[in-house]
Amino acid sequence: MKTKITELFGIEHPIIQGGMHHVGYAEMAAAVSNAGGLGMITGLTQRSADDLAREIARCREMTDKPFGVNLTFLPIINTPDYPAYIRAIVDGGVKAVETAGNNPQKYLPQLHEAGVKVIHKCTSVRHALKAQSIGCDAVSVDGFECAGHPGEDDVPNFILLPRAADELEIPFVASGGMADGRSLVAALALGAQGINMGTRFIATKEAPVHENVKQAIVAASELDTRLVMRGLRNTERVLRNAAVDRLMEKERALGAALKFEDIIEEVAGVYPRIMKEGDMEAGAWSCGMVAGLIHDIPTVQELIDRIMAEATSIIRQRLAGFLAD
Ligand SMILES: Cc1cc2nc3c(=O)[nH]c(=O)nc-3n(C[C@H](O)[C@H](O)[C@H](O)COP(=O)(O)O)c2cc1C
Repeated sequence: MKTKITELFGIEHPIIQGGMHHVGYAEMAAAVSNAGGLGMITGLTQRSADDLAREIARCREMTDKPFGVNLTFLPIINTPDYPAYIRAIVDGGVKAVETAGNNPQKYLPQLHEAGVKVIHKCTSVRHALKAQSIGCDAVSVDGFECAGHPGEDDVPNFILLPRAADELEIPFVASGGMADGRSLVAALALGAQGINMGTRFIATKEAPVHENVKQAIVAASELDTRLVMRGLRNTERVLRNAAVDRLMEKERALGAALKFEDIIEEVAGVYPRIMKEGDMEAGAWSCGMVAGLIHDIPTVQELIDRIMAEATSIIRQRLAGFLAD
């Protein structure tokens, strides 16, 4: 399948793996890239720019295909040394960067000069237009269904994607709720040039996380995610567990008086305990409604091959079959 996204990133299939904290290690990114998609190392999971440089080198040993790095710009208290991370990306010869969160404008000239293509992840048409106006090469449009931070507008992909298609000139991929060949064809029909997946890639053999995390995704239905931190305007879609129930109880009790410090135990520094140790009650972790469509743990190659075969068959048979001769 050839789309503007496969051409932009030099990949075989229009499937991107979104950056995922404590999941997007070299093993994950290389598995996706080796299967013909675009894998993404999560920059800030690496504690320093030197660590990121080593992770990029490790990934390079596992694949000779293109892969990218996610750089998330969030209002965190201890701001990471972003210029050093950018240097590690450029010096490491990485040619694709997924930015997310705040505006990446400051770093675009340096990235573009090094031949890096930038895809900015955003949750609204106005932010997508902003990304286009500052010179991003593509955007990833993240609907309300998505794992992680869906923003505050709550527009699901059936509206958001055609709205993006109506307004944007640069290519975009559909993100949030994507799982299979049906998702890919629907996304293409709504105007996207490919898909970005998070949650679906965690439930694969190669995802470098504890087996409990994979099983939790397989066991979850589309009803099992919750939105937390809305009151802080930092909404996150997470899988419901005991910590999330506790967090939501605090949100109810404290109302508008809620501060980040009140919920720090449920959200800060919990990822290693969940992803590495498999302690599924340790805190709140991002998970999409798409969990309801995930029923198995294939290899990444099997998953991507299956998506492409299903998409091809839907286009050639199911859709073509609706047309009268
Ligand atoms: C466990 C987990 C961690 C994530 N961490 C990040 C992150 O650090 N930065 C980021 O931009 N997106 C992050 N995301 C969002 C994904 O990149 C992607 O946009 C999202 O998962 C798409 O929705 P889906 O899960 O329905 O496919 C995370 C998602 C998950 C499931």
